[in-house]
Amino acid sequence: MGRIAVCPGSFDPITYGHLDIIERASKIFDTVYVSVLKNSSKEGLFTPEERVELIRQVSERYPNVEVRSFNGLLIDFCEEVGAEAIVRGLRAVSDFEYEMQLTSMNRKLNSSIETIYMMTNNNYSFISSSIVKEVAKYGGKIEDVVPPLVEEALKRKFNLQ
Ligand code: PNS
Repeated sequence: MGRIAVCPGSFDPITYGHLDIIERASKIFDTVYVSVLKNSSKEGLFTPEERVELIRQVSERYPNVEVRSFNGLLIDFCEEVGAEAIVRGLRAVSDFEYEMQLTSMNRKLNSSIETIYMMTNNNYSFISSSIVKEVAKYGGKIEDVVPPLVEEALKRKFNLQ
């Protein structure tokens, strides 16, 4: 089984920024569970099943990456899969306050699960799923920020093809 980490997020949809963190986590941990969770402050575009399917397809080349969706608390998912760490990407200072709240609450819920932050690759530090959706909605170019498969899925969602 080895060392297990969870990469949690909304992934609505997955971007190259997420994929970069998943790839880097997969080099450090024996198994990485990418967990699609509900962020109650965000409206979803893709269903959890659609998000999982997109992540599965774009992370196919990492044999130690498993993709799941979970309807509940992140910490409960971590306990269920026996994870010792949560891995999150940090893009900019603006992410910090929210991430600190998330980490502090998760630590209160289970202090034996450590949260680890990775600085996002500079090429992706400006990307967010929300911005990608907005650009895609109006037919803007998103090929540099999401995999081709995700680009196609976004075009279908917005009836652009
Ligand atoms: O990609 P996001 O939206 O920044 O990810 C946030 C997410 C989904 C990881 C967070 O909202 C979450 O953990 N949701 C599951 C419910 C939960 O555990 N909430 C309490 C965390 S303090």
